[in-house]
Amino acid sequence: MFETKPDIQGRAEIETLVNTFYDRVRTDEVLGFIFDKIAQTNWETHLPKMYAFWETVMFRSGGFAGNPIAAHAKLVPLTTMGREQFDHWLLLFRSTVDDLFVGEKAEHIKNCAADMANVIYSKINSVADPRFDPANLTPEQRERYARYKATA
Ligand code: HEM
Repeated sequence: MFETKPDIQGRAEIETLVNTFYDRVRTDEVLGFIFDKIAQTNWETHLPKMYAFWETVMFRSGGFAGNPIAAHAKLVPLTTMGREQFDHWLLLFRSTVDDLFVGEKAEHIKNCAADMANVIYSKINSVADPRFDPANLTPEQRERYARYKATA
């Protein structure tokens, strides 16, 4: 039997992904308390915000208007927001995508998440963005940034 998973097509799949991801985050040892204890996240507003965020990133619709850098910078004095936390966040995000979806969009959303984790981590911790040191890039990222630079 082959199991065929769908790719991410639009809003419906984004909502499934976000709901599943944050269900896992909330029970996660490393990340759960940051939302529920430190930030005291209101899930009724956070989840729709994240649907909008990912719909905007993936499909340029969704109408996300927020400030992800500021939202995470606020957490820095309250808890550790280091590479370990971001790597763990990414591991959880990637495995959630892989459990639900397969395809080009599924690959794309994982790459976007990795890029954004780098940007948020480096900005809030005032360390150099790894994109400025080509030694830190994966071959895939190096190729993508080279293409971006060529068209920017
Ligand atoms: C260590 C990893 C991370 C932790 C602990 C974390 C935690 C949080 C928390 C506590 C909030 C505020 C929720 C609230 O309103 O109460 C938030 C907001 C948000 N997070 Fe994260 N986050 C992490 C990584 C990421 C990454 C890698 C992305 C993007 C790919 C991301 C995207 C967002 C966005 C878009 C918001 C909403 C920002 C706004 O209100 O404008 N987060 N996050």
